[in-house]
Amino acid sequence: MNDYVHGFTDRERVRLHDQASTLEQLMHHDTRYGPGQTVLEVACGVGATTVILARRSPGARFTAIDLSAASIATAQRFIRGESGLGHVAFARADLFRMPFPPDSFDHVFICFLLEHMTDPRGALASILNVLKPGGTATVIEGDHGSCYFHPQTEAARRAWNCLIEVQARLGANSLIGRELYPLLRGAGLSDVSVTPRMVYCDENRPQLMDGFVKKTIIPMVQGVHEQAIAWGLIDEGTWQRGIADLHVTGTPPEGTFCYNFFKGVGRK
Ligand SMILES: C[S@@+](CC[C@H](N)C(=O)[O-])C[C@H]1O[C@@H](n2cnc3c(N)ncnc32)[C@H](O)[C@@H]1O
Repeated sequence: MNDYVHGFTDRERVRLHDQASTLEQLMHHDTRYGPGQTVLEVACGVGATTVILARRSPGARFTAIDLSAASIATAQRFIRGESGLGHVAFARADLFRMPFPPDSFDHVFICFLLEHMTDPRGALASILNVLKPGGTATVIEGDHGSCYFHPQTEAARRAWNCLIEVQARLGANSLIGRELYPLLRGAGLSDVSVTPRMVYCDENRPQLMDGFVKKTIIPMVQGVHEQAIAWGLIDEGTWQRGIADLHVTGTPPEGTFCYNFFKGVGRK
């Protein structure tokens, strides 16, 4: 992968946990693995989604890998403090150099990975190689082009677009959600089904306003501040106004915010 655009800071760790818990029902209500089934979660980061998956499938056996030793250490520390998660093992591993033989797992699971990859097709091929024939692959990705909000000021839109542009310049694709179906079919999966998962927030959804807009989206945009300024994508004044305006989109009663994730499932 290119440099992970959101970095590995403490703030990013908190953001990933907030994101996962805020979106749990929307993203994961339909993912359950049976007793004794083996599941490989690739790019587990700090384990925010791992914990959700493992709690929903207490009889399955999870192996969660990530390239970042620091993230794996954080995930391990986090899970040690939780009860009932003895069926999860973490390991530091590069998905392009899988430490498992081909056809090892009953299922594979990926969340928010492909958008950061310079070679998403190669990544998918490497992951599917360790999936048993007949097993399922589940992939969840966002699409930053699917976002709109109110009030939609020019400054807010420009700050948001920096996120898309920085990732594109790093060779990644933050618009990958819309490509999920052809990506999964092109990887050779059958029975592919992709469903959009729309997050819509207004005053009547205060938890989403706070957990998604304020604690997930805005910190994610702020994560590209340095690069956006350094590359001349935006000037500091417009950036600051844009961030302030994005806060208004997450503040009742005026603000509203809409974003689409995509969840794909296919069979090898
Ligand atoms: C957005 S984070 C994933 C978040 C996590 N799936 C979740 O739901 O909270 C992307 C992760 O991909 C990992 N990653 C990037 N390249 C990788 C590779 N080649 N092998 C394994 N993990 C990789 C990064 O270290 C980072 O933790």
